[in-house]
Amino acid sequence: MLIFLLLLTTAGHGDAQRFNGLQKDDSCSCKVNSSVWAFPTVRFEGVQQLVEECGESLKQLQAQVMLSTEMIPKILATFNNLTARLEPYQYLNNLGLYTPLQLRQLAQELTELEKDIASVHNLKPSHQTQELTNEISKVRKKVDRMHLSNTFNMKTVKEKLRTLKNGVETCRTIPEKFISKQGVCSQRIMSNISTPVSQKISPFGKSYVSGSWGRQAKKSTDDEEVIEDFYWVQPLVSSNRLGNVVRRYKTYDDFMASRNQEDVSVAPSYSHANAIQGSGTVVYGNAVFFNCYMSTELCRYDLQTKATRRLNIPDLGANNQFPYCYYNCKDWTDVDFAVDETGLWVIYTTLGNHGNLMLSRLDSQAFNVTHTWTTRLFKKSVTNAFMVCGVLYATRYVDRFREEVFYAFDTATGQDDNTLALPLEKIEGGVASLTYNPIDRQLYMYNEGYLLSYKAIF
Ligand SMILES: *[C@@H]1O[C@H](CO)[C@@H](O)[C@H](O)[C@H]1NC(C)=O
Ligand SMILES: *[C@@H]1O[C@H](CO)[C@@H](O)[C@H](O)[C@H]1NC(C)=O
Ligand SMILES: *[C@@H]1O[C@H](CO)[C@@H](O)[C@H](O)[C@H]1NC(C)=O
Ligand SMILES: *[C@@H]1O[C@H](CO)[C@@H](O)[C@H](O)[C@H]1NC(C)=O
Repeated sequence: MLIFLLLLTTAGHGDAQRFNGLQKDDSCSCKVNSSVWAFPTVRFEGVQQLVEECGESLKQLQAQVMLSTEMIPKILATFNNLTARLEPYQYLNNLGLYTPLQLRQLAQELTELEKDIASVHNLKPSHQTQELTNEISKVRKKVDRMHLSNTFNMKTVKEKLRTLKNGVETCRTIPEKFISKQGVCSQRIMSNISTPVSQKISPFGKSYVSGSWGRQAKKSTDDEEVIEDFYWVQPLVSSNRLGNVVRRYKTYDDFMASRNQEDVSVAPSYSHANAIQGSGTVVYGNAVFFNCYMSTELCRYDLQTKATRRLNIPDLGANNQFPYCYYNCKDWTDVDFAVDETGLWVIYTTLGNHGNLMLSRLDSQAFNVTHTWTTRLFKKSVTNAFMVCGVLYATRYVDRFREEVFYAFDTATGQDDNTLALPLEKIEGGVASLTYNPIDRQLYMYNEGYLLSYKAIF
């Protein structure tokens, strides 16, 4: 027979509790009334909870510290990135060009646009012109309110006007094939660009780091005079700025072998008033198009009649005022001619447009401007630009061996997209010229002293 004494010493009271065991068969059992368990569990649990909570808040604190030590550099990096990307615009600020224009000037622009839209609508009414009419009346109401309240967001209204203006340009009696979504241009945006299909050092030598080259870009049609097919190279001299010679090769083989060339002088010397300035030259049909020496005028040299015609573009950013820049500025790239399936173009900017890229369509025979679009892309933030199927493309510098087409502006819709990433391989850093030829659907790049061509892929 066993009797157990169970002694329990409790923390709080120091009391001992005694239990009597009971014999049952061959075993002994005792019942313990749990309420005698005087250990202050609640208190203990309370303290434990406090400790845990404290641990929790310590954890939170630690997380906060970690977050800020990790996040602050990230935020700083973003900030620096933004600062870097805004750098080009600082230039405008410094020049005082970006101060909001006077409301009066805005109202003038609006009045002109209203007239334009009305005339387009009367001439060729369509759903689109109706929409433009509605939009412009909305803007008019806004501007009238601005006059009254004297508080306004000039930038928003300017942007609205820009969009409307582009809409008018697209509506204005453009040949059907221009906006056509059929044929070779059914796929509006290029999907890729091949690796270089030909590479050659300039026939003038590697030291000619600026200039332009390509292939005569106008298709012969039955009703027009026959236009010869030829390759051409235009090197710049005098600090890579001026030129008067266009070298021609009748065949690709002659061009590649640098033989059987013919040198054409578009002016008696490179410092003549009709000489070439900058690397924006193209040959379209029987004429060479370029920025005339030291001027805001465009030149058209006729290869058959040997006559030069000039066209003034008011307010044109010229004489190295607005070259292509992005990473390093490529001097004397203010005026850049382009050709595509729809005709002849010129890419440039004006002071009035704050240095943003502008695009004009030219009548190559009459040599006048027929349409003008305005983009939001700062010219100094791109390395070059060209046209394909009525779409303006712009490139940026990735590194010495790579360029990237990152921007497209569709003249048929007025929409732009700056999320493209079409790679372009190159041999050297600088891109003096980049133009498209709609006949062979190739891009031609003057890359320092190297002449490269690529296939456009749709
Ligand atoms: C346990 O002990 C308490 C007082 O010590 C008493 O009130 C309660 O009735 C007891 N319970 C049992 C099951 O014996
Ligand atoms: C800035 O950010 C953009 C987009 O996030 C990125 O593509 C680019 O490489 C960054 N530039 C720099 C200088 O960090
Ligand atoms: C685009 O072309 C490049 C060659 O320039 C090639 O390496 C790449 O794979 C192509 N990308 C696609 C998506 O086809
Ligand atoms: C361009 O010139 C042609 C021929 O002289 C003329 O018919 C046309 O109206 C002109 N266009 C513009 C926009 O001045």
